[in-house]
Amino acid sequence: MIEQDFIPRSIDTSKLTKGSFTWKTPSNIALVKYWGKREPQIPENTSISFTLDACHTITTLSFSKNVILSAPDSYRDEKSHPVFDIYFEGKKKDDFKPKIATFFKRIEKYCPYLKDFDFKIESENSFPHSSGIASSASGMSALALCVMSLEKELNSEISDEYFYKKASFLARLGSGSACRSVKGEVVVWGEHQEIKDSSNLYGVEFTDEVHSNFKNYQDTILLVDKGEKQVSSTLGHDLMIGHPFAENRFQQAEENISKMKSILKSGDLKAFVNLVESEALTLHAMMMTSNPYFILMKPNTLKIIHKIWEYREIINSNVCFTLDAGANVHLLFPTSEKETIAKFVDIELKQFCQNNQYIEDGVGRGAVLMKNEK
Ligand code: DP6
Repeated sequence: MIEQDFIPRSIDTSKLTKGSFTWKTPSNIALVKYWGKREPQIPENTSISFTLDACHTITTLSFSKNVILSAPDSYRDEKSHPVFDIYFEGKKKDDFKPKIATFFKRIEKYCPYLKDFDFKIESENSFPHSSGIASSASGMSALALCVMSLEKELNSEISDEYFYKKASFLARLGSGSACRSVKGEVVVWGEHQEIKDSSNLYGVEFTDEVHSNFKNYQDTILLVDKGEKQVSSTLGHDLMIGHPFAENRFQQAEENISKMKSILKSGDLKAFVNLVESEALTLHAMMMTSNPYFILMKPNTLKIIHKIWEYREIINSNVCFTLDAGANVHLLFPTSEKETIAKFVDIELKQFCQNNQYIEDGVGRGAVLMKNEK
């Protein structure tokens, strides 16, 4: 599908006055990382992720027909986005407004019906606030799905396929990685010749064969640093503009997608460990070799990494780590190692986490509609 396919012809909003939708959407963890983008939110390379289960956002979008329908168009232009209030975990959060306003502005062309309504957005995360876990993926995908539920209410003819593709397309405009938090256990974003139907505009479910070794894969998130992100993702992606290694990195990521595709098929866990860890360290290497430069790992991140390597050396384990743009460590392992890794975390690793805190998660299936009220 191309961008124009997401611009609806004409949508009649006259019959709908108010209602609300609630979506629960997951976070995701990239195996091959997205790092570098161009306008409008087009990734410089393809990425692939596992959808998580326990780490999620629940968002309710309540809407009511606005009272300025008869207002002159100039008023609307000034307003430039729908009127909305946002509440996070029960509290009004005006500081979240600019990000959401930008999102509404970006999607207005694809969702012209939004201007006929006023909104209340209520959101909560399953993971502790400021745990260092990026909430933009689950948060933006939840909002995008709520918007799509509204579109479906106004135009019942849209297919499920269109619904999810457009939800991912809209989520991408909120936050790139959010487009991988809509549907499917393994999701690819970015056009890649070996991934059928893949697109720069939205994430697609990875439909090639996945070996049973990867069923119910586990992700224990070790909360090393729960503080605010040191580098915002927008600044982070910008670091790739003019980066001396950028072109090689983008090329390498495309090759790693091909490698990951065959690893997922063969079930080769050793190769998986090698590729996933290499991707995580490459992401951080990009930050260390950009200008300005950043080290986002903390001493305890490194201690955990060395413990994992030591553990793998002694026990024939397939546990590995991956990192996002922060200090927290995602511990990935097959479900067959669930009990032994739980002990390993308890005895050896949790001491390196802030307040000994970690989250046990695993691969999930994607977003769920929880409520639809009119
Ligand atoms: C390191 O999706 O947060 O987690 O598009 O600017 O919102 P924006 O960036 P964002 O970047 C995530 C980068 C990453 C790697 C990944 O998830 O692929």
